[in-house]
Amino acid sequence: MNAIGQRTDSGSPAAGAPACAVDAAGRVRDLEALVARLERELRQARLLASLGELATGIAHEINTPVQFVSDSAYFVRDAMVDLSGLIPAYRRLQARVADGSATAADAEPLAAAAAAADLDYLLEHVPTALDRLIDGIGRVATIVHSMKEFAHPDREEMLPLDLNQAIRTTLVVSRNEYKYVADVVTDLGDIPAVTCHGGDISQAILNIIVNAAHAVEDVVRGTQGKGCITVQTRCDGESVTIRIGDSGAGIPEDIRPRVFDPFFTTKPIGKGTGQGLAIARAAVLKHGGDITFQSDVPGGTLFAIRLPLNAPPGRTDA
Ligand SMILES: Nc1ncnc2c1ncn2[C@@H]1O[C@H](COP(=O)(O)OP(=O)(O)O)[C@@H](O)[C@H]1O
Ligand SMILES: [Mg+2]
Repeated sequence: MNAIGQRTDSGSPAAGAPACAVDAAGRVRDLEALVARLERELRQARLLASLGELATGIAHEINTPVQFVSDSAYFVRDAMVDLSGLIPAYRRLQARVADGSATAADAEPLAAAAAAADLDYLLEHVPTALDRLIDGIGRVATIVHSMKEFAHPDREEMLPLDLNQAIRTTLVVSRNEYKYVADVVTDLGDIPAVTCHGGDISQAILNIIVNAAHAVEDVVRGTQGKGCITVQTRCDGESVTIRIGDSGAGIPEDIRPRVFDPFFTTKPIGKGTGQGLAIARAAVLKHGGDITFQSDVPGGTLFAIRLPLNAPPGRTDA
């Protein structure tokens, strides 16, 4: 800044102008880099904030398998105690067989110990308990892995993203938002990688899935029934389209033009901030794509995000 001031004050505008221009260009570049960094940090902060909002649900999702891992581990531990009660009788019998003194009566203590340990029951249930244990640990690992993947630090440059995997990850971290109200049906096509900022796109998908869950919840509340959320991906050779449908009540015609407006919400405080679709749209537009919806009242809503396989250069170089 000083450098520019000094040169302009030199009283030699003709000589100073090119230097000014060079400095100004340098400053613009610095500012652009600063804006790019702040944008990146904002995107990352938003992702982490989304995870924060999902945190209670994720804790619940982790707690359920942890509970049955724990129950199964206790069951197997107790089973081992019962089974080890058989060992002395087994060893005595083995010794008698080895020294040739065994009679049929020597098998009786072993049979009694097996009955006391409820051997048949254990043989049937220990493998099941171990399967549940392995399954539970696998579920926890999937959730933790998905959280890490979802909030993966954003990189400066865009990278090829496996969108189907990003969708699966997003569905795992948001499961508690929809699982009580909707079954999710995925139809993930054979699509190539999409070069993008993965965090932005996952954020957009999350926002639409959460909206779908809210819409379905409004319809099924007070009933025993569940609604449906569908997620489909397709590629037409140049772009990939993600369609997220719900069996909610639809978007009333009079608010359709406003749903993408920042802070427009029809939800009570604490449930809606009106930012979900505005953020999703900004992210998709920056990638050179578009986001549209069709809605029937009643009947449901279908959002479509179209992303070019390669965003036009310069659109998202933040
Ligand atoms: N799938 C949907 N079904 C019905 N209405 C929807 C759906 N998605 C969005 N909307 C409407 O659009 C509004 C804005 O959505 P959004 O920007 O995500 O903000 P928020 O969810 O915080 O209200 C919602 O309040 C709701 O009225
Ligand atoms: Mg929303």
